[in-house]
Amino acid sequence: MMLANDLDTPAVTIRLDIMEDNIRRVQQHLDRHGIANRPHIKTHKVPELGKLQMQAGAIGITCQKLGEVEVFTNAGVADDVLLTFNVLGRAKTERLMALAARVRRLAVVLDNEVVARGLSEGGVRHGVDVRFLIECDTGFGRNGVQTPDAALDLARVALKLPRLAFEGLMTFPNRDPETREFFTRALELFKRAGIPVPVVSGGGTPSLFRAQEIPMLTEHRAGTYIFNDVMVVASGTATWDNCAMRVRATVVSRPMSTRAVIDAGTKVLTSDQYTVKGYGHVLEYPEAAITNLSEEHGIVDLSQCRERPAVGDVVHVIPNHCCVVSNMVDEMYGVRGERVETVWPVAARGTVR
Ligand SMILES: Cc1ncc(COP(=O)(O)O)c(C=O)c1O
Repeated sequence: MMLANDLDTPAVTIRLDIMEDNIRRVQQHLDRHGIANRPHIKTHKVPELGKLQMQAGAIGITCQKLGEVEVFTNAGVADDVLLTFNVLGRAKTERLMALAARVRRLAVVLDNEVVARGLSEGGVRHGVDVRFLIECDTGFGRNGVQTPDAALDLARVALKLPRLAFEGLMTFPNRDPETREFFTRALELFKRAGIPVPVVSGGGTPSLFRAQEIPMLTEHRAGTYIFNDVMVVASGTATWDNCAMRVRATVVSRPMSTRAVIDAGTKVLTSDQYTVKGYGHVLEYPEAAITNLSEEHGIVDLSQCRERPAVGDVVHVIPNHCCVVSNMVDEMYGVRGERVETVWPVAARGTVR
């Protein structure tokens, strides 16, 4: 039996009881409101965890990269997959077509005509109908058609192309009221045009428990909720007690009374600050601030701490953004109480294509 306290550092650990509670609570919330749960697996990249989400009641999974779809399909996680990224170029289109033959329902999103044409040509080459949702930018300022009229225009263009099957609209993240207003208008336009919109897909963890306030959503895609992190706590959607991922790190130096250095830098915690300050929350020293990172060093300011760690002490850091941390390590450790119950290879780690 391996004990959590014996794990060498740095190590990415997951508190199983917290993670299981996150999976259960979120599924229950969406079930209660009749919104299908389509968790985004980019957060963990571990097929075993995708299986737990499916067993808890998810209708399918969301992937951001074709490589994730391949790994999760090979592991038999889900027969209903949404790929939320514009697929461009021959190499990726061929991989998508190969996957479409293996998954009962594989849908993609698109927000422009170039992608639509490439998918249509791929569908024709392979004799495959490509299911797609139109990505709408409802306030985030990333991909997505900019107006409800543009969504309808793109749907009309795409519907004229062979082998494309329109299934609905998608956004990330849900924003209130912008997302509701956008979709209300878009659904009116599609209705008037006689085009059914079976799926309206929303997403994001911070907005998760208010997804029902956008009543047209048929499904919700959250990823971060499985572990939670500083960003989610800062958004008010979770507490530290809901954070399952902790980076176990050793204090390797105390060069001055107000400074500790831990053995986790950007190559574990990453430099992603996302929406928050600093580089993580030190559970044992909540007044400490991780102010700076080198690749392998985490600089911790202890000036606000009455108790201070010694060289050799181990601390646990809740990262700013858990989704990028999973991608940094070969394995994550599932911990229950004192014990390491499971070691998961991060099977889809590095699948950036
Ligand atoms: C398209 C899309 N859907 C869903 C999600 C999940 O959001 P969250 O990680 O906030 O749960 C993301 C996250 O980046 C995303 O990009």
